[in-house]
Amino acid sequence: MIQLEEIMTILSNEKIAADVYKMELSGNTELVSMPGQFVNIKVPGFYLRRPISICDYEPGKLTIIYKLVGNGTDAMSKMQAGDELNMLMGLGNGFNTELSGEYPLLVGGGVGTPPIYGLAKRLVAQGKKVSVVLGFASKQDVFYQEKFSELNENTTGGSCKVYVATVDGSFGTKGFVTNCLDEIEEISHYYACGPIPMLKALIAKLDERQKDIPGQLSFEERMGCGFGACVGCSIDTKSGYKKVCKDGPVFMSSDIVI
Ligand code: FES
Repeated sequence: MIQLEEIMTILSNEKIAADVYKMELSGNTELVSMPGQFVNIKVPGFYLRRPISICDYEPGKLTIIYKLVGNGTDAMSKMQAGDELNMLMGLGNGFNTELSGEYPLLVGGGVGTPPIYGLAKRLVAQGKKVSVVLGFASKQDVFYQEKFSELNENTTGGSCKVYVATVDGSFGTKGFVTNCLDEIEEISHYYACGPIPMLKALIAKLDERQKDIPGQLSFEERMGCGFGACVGCSIDTKSGYKKVCKDGPVFMSSDIVI
């Protein structure tokens, strides 16, 4: 895997939900090739880089969405347009879009939502009938549901139907992402990114519906350092323990032991 340091310039940095920020940057994005990849950011004044998933990318422009989880991301939230960030690019395997079939289901839990957006955008561009289910704790945490709906404005014949669940029922369906699945008629393949309890519940629910729907899971929430140093990201697979930051973050669900 080629990874390179790039100096990216912040175009905008705005709060879009409780403790969640969207940052757009300009610079060289040539090494980003798949939705589901991540960047590793050197925040000025902090030694360890912060791995953050890529929400969207195009030539010369990158969008990331990050949650305030500590001093590093707090410092990031105070940066402004024109400030520069050193990023390692080209990290992670990303989602395989060739396996989607005609009716892919995409599931994002909380800050597992951003990489699902870049994936939805590319699948809709390929003419796929995409169903997206997003799960959040409460209304104040919800973001990007309109951006997903906007993907319907296209000329490819693709579509994007969006379902939102909140645990407290303050927005969309009350409960978890699994509470929305009965509304979806066809699923050819699934992609999911979010906390491990969500991934487990999703797999169990899909299994009840139909055995062996193929899927891909992103375990980015488990990442610490993002470059192989902390060993905190190991997950159990059928071929032994793997590092999410080096071997993933995306794995075939059939390979995972959870
Ligand atoms: Fe630190 Fe993988 S995130 S070793």
